[in-house]
Amino acid sequence: MSEIVRRPRRLRVTPAVRRLVAETRVHPSQLILPVFVADGLDEPRPISSLPGVVQHTMESVRAEAARVVDAGLGGIALFGVPDIDDKDSMGTAAYSSQGILNRAIEAVRAEVGDETVIIADTCLDEFTDHGHCGILDEVGGVDNDATVELYRRQAVSQAEAGAHFVAPSGMMDGQVLAIREALDEAGFSETGIMAYSAKYASAFYGPFREAVGSSLHGNRRSYQQDPANRREGRLEASLDEFEGADILMVKPASHYLDVLAEVAEASQVPVAAYQVSGEYAMIAAAAERGWIDRQAALTEATTCIVRAGADIVLTYAALELAEWLR
Ligand code: PBG
Repeated sequence: MSEIVRRPRRLRVTPAVRRLVAETRVHPSQLILPVFVADGLDEPRPISSLPGVVQHTMESVRAEAARVVDAGLGGIALFGVPDIDDKDSMGTAAYSSQGILNRAIEAVRAEVGDETVIIADTCLDEFTDHGHCGILDEVGGVDNDATVELYRRQAVSQAEAGAHFVAPSGMMDGQVLAIREALDEAGFSETGIMAYSAKYASAFYGPFREAVGSSLHGNRRSYQQDPANRREGRLEASLDEFEGADILMVKPASHYLDVLAEVAEASQVPVAAYQVSGEYAMIAAAAERGWIDRQAALTEATTCIVRAGADIVLTYAALELAEWLR
C-alpha cells in the first residue's frame, strides 16, 4: 500500500471532476443587479469610478430591467439620483410619488411585472442636501426616530410604486419594525423587507457616492457600524430578523466574510451580501490595467461570497456573471 492514503488531488484532475465535486455553485437566480436611475439625463451617463456601470435614464432603465429578466437574474435593486434642485434637508423627493426613484420603480414594474424581483433602496441619502441617510437634529446629529418616520412614508410610497421589496439601508435603530408596521397598515402585507442589517461604515462605498451624486461631507460613522466589530454584526442581524426582516444583508461583502458566515449561520431567513462599488471598482480597475483577469477575479469573488454563506449576492457584475455562468 502506498504511504499516502489520501490523495485529494484525485478530485482535481479534470474540469469535469472539479465541476462534479464543487461545494459551491453560483446561479444567476441568486444575483441582484444594482441599478442607478438619474433625473434630467438625455442618455445614459457612464460613472467614471465604476467602469461598465451607468446612470440610467427613465427609458434606458426599462431596457436594463428587461436584460435582467432575460439573463434570469434574481432581482434588480434600484437607486434614484435626483436633480440637485430636488434635494432638501428633509429628503422630500424620497417619499414623493414624483421622486425619481418612485417613478423608476413604476416604470420598471410596468416593464417587467413580476418576472423579476424589484427592490427599492429605502434611504434618504440621495435626496438630502446634506447627504446624510436621515434628517438632522438641532446639533447636526442624525435624528433616529424622526428619520424612521420618514422611512415609513418612503417605504409605503415605494410599495405603491410597485416595489416587491423595500431595502432599508440607513442603519437607524428600529427601522425594520417601523417599516413593517407602516406597510401592513397601508395594505402592503406582501411587500417584503430586505434589510441592510450589518452595514459597516466603509471606505469601499467611494464610487457609489459618485454614482448617486452624493452631497455628503463627513462620514456616516454615527449610524453605520465600525469595521472593527464582528459580534455587533450578529446583533444587528438578529434584531432585524426579530423586527420582521424577510431577508438580511451584510455589506460590504469580501472584507466581511467572517461577519457574513456568522450571520448566515445564525439566521433563519435568507442572507444577502452586497459586493459594493469599491470592491467591484478595484477589480475593474486592475483588470483595465491588465493586472488581473476580470472574469476570473469577479467569478472568484462571487463564489467566495456564496461559499461564506450568502444565499443572494448584489453585484454590479451580475449580468456579466450570468453570461459567464452559462
Ligand atoms: C445608502 C447606500 C449606500 C450604498 C448602498 N446604499 C451608500 C452609503 O451607505 O454610503 C453603497 C453601495 C455601494 O457602495 O455599492 N443609500
